[in-house]
Amino acid sequence: MLTKELITELKNKGNESLQLLIDKQKDSKSIAFILESLGHLPQNFDGDFLIPLLKHEHHQVRLLAVKNIGKLTDEKFLPYLYQMIDNETNTSVKREVVSAIGRMRNPKNKEVLYKILQDKDPKIVCQAIRALLVFENDKEVEQHLKPLINHPNEMVRSVIYRQFFGNSNHSQNSTLPHAQTYDFLKNVVVNGDVLEVLKYVPNESVHLTFTSPPYYNARDYSIYPSYQAYLEFLEAVFKEVHRITKEGRFLVVNTSPIIIPRVSRSHSSKRYPIPFDLHPYLVKNGWEFIDDIIWQKPDYSVKNRIGGFMQHRKPLMYKPNTVTEYLMVYRKETSKLIDWNIRSYDKETIEASRVPEGYEKTNIWKIDPCFDKVHSAVFPVELCKRVIQYYSFKGDLVFDPFAGSGTVGKTAKLLGRKFFLTEKDTTYFEYMKSKDKPSLLQEDNTKFMSLTEFVNFILP
Ligand SMILES: C[S@@+](CC[C@H](N)C(=O)[O-])C[C@H]1O[C@@H](n2cnc3c(N)ncnc32)[C@H](O)[C@@H]1O
Repeated sequence: MLTKELITELKNKGNESLQLLIDKQKDSKSIAFILESLGHLPQNFDGDFLIPLLKHEHHQVRLLAVKNIGKLTDEKFLPYLYQMIDNETNTSVKREVVSAIGRMRNPKNKEVLYKILQDKDPKIVCQAIRALLVFENDKEVEQHLKPLINHPNEMVRSVIYRQFFGNSNHSQNSTLPHAQTYDFLKNVVVNGDVLEVLKYVPNESVHLTFTSPPYYNARDYSIYPSYQAYLEFLEAVFKEVHRITKEGRFLVVNTSPIIIPRVSRSHSSKRYPIPFDLHPYLVKNGWEFIDDIIWQKPDYSVKNRIGGFMQHRKPLMYKPNTVTEYLMVYRKETSKLIDWNIRSYDKETIEASRVPEGYEKTNIWKIDPCFDKVHSAVFPVELCKRVIQYYSFKGDLVFDPFAGSGTVGKTAKLLGRKFFLTEKDTTYFEYMKSKDKPSLLQEDNTKFMSLTEFVNFILP
């Protein structure tokens, strides 16, 4: 009977005993079992019995034979592996072949690995990249790898970006430790156009941005010459937000498709899918897509669109009531893992920032909307609470470029974070400032400033 013990015993006896054992097997499964059970192979191990298996009809046997060859760094196997690069049809096996060649760490293999970089399977290309990266600080290797930053496949581009471009334009711009930020941004509200204000905000100073941009022509505060102009305005804002965001930190954007009512009975209304149209602009500018969260409102709280359909039930006339909005979650692209971000905080802060029980487990958040006597589109505090608790630590700086009534700031403060807000409209700015509105914003050291005051405040 085939057992692991028997295989280990024969392995210690050498090549011929294993050859005999394999010859005796009638099915591929048993051969695969033998190959899988070989475990560690000493460098002087004679693996000749593996060579015929490289042409075995079953791909699993070929794969395991290659894997074992990869454990040996013997150059004599190279011609066989090279042959497989040209002839092997199974991608997993081919990937294993590239990995085996890579494990040999033999500079002779560089030429063949360069050739594999042209493979049409991106996973195989990535494997070849990995194999080439063992030749550290090798200029010739770099010359072959760097152009792959323009590879059509995003996985390949990302590996190259991380390796060669990832660290160059990130943290070196920042003079502050990750968990810290500038005092002159803490608990500050500036009355001004966000694009003007951000000109004075240093790189990498914000830990989290949560915002709801103005709607496209849906309310009086948001008149843009065209939808394209609107998207380009948002692109410019989120590009700046990217610059001032700390490495690997988050941006959460609340939007939803909006409807522009018809101008007359002979026209139809038009729906603009803002979250979907904005997404490519964000990704293009270095925001990595992380999650889509649906904010679901109760049926009774939204405009009735289904009325007309309910009467006649004519197909094509169907218009469901829209009870959802999107919270699109992005992270500033980085080669660092989230763990790196977390390790930038001390134990006490991590402990104090632990998300309490009762947190939301799905990406559908059922929250009632909030209505306000002055501002027509305010965030519910509960929505802000979740975003701030899930995506920031105590003491962090939370930014809202389109502050409105200041809900993000108020909630940030409530949760032991600092806030930085910009709001263009003086009425809303004054509203945030007003003494008669019971709000945390007015407590202690919140600074309300015009753009000029802000500039004088930060520039010595
Ligand atoms: C959807 S509202 C945000 C409401 C906010 N989330 C709240 O809880 O009150 C968008 C806000 O962006 C402001 N805004 C529009 N364009 C702006 C710009 N260029 N710079 C700064 N604020 C702007 C509008 O005046 C409006 O108050």
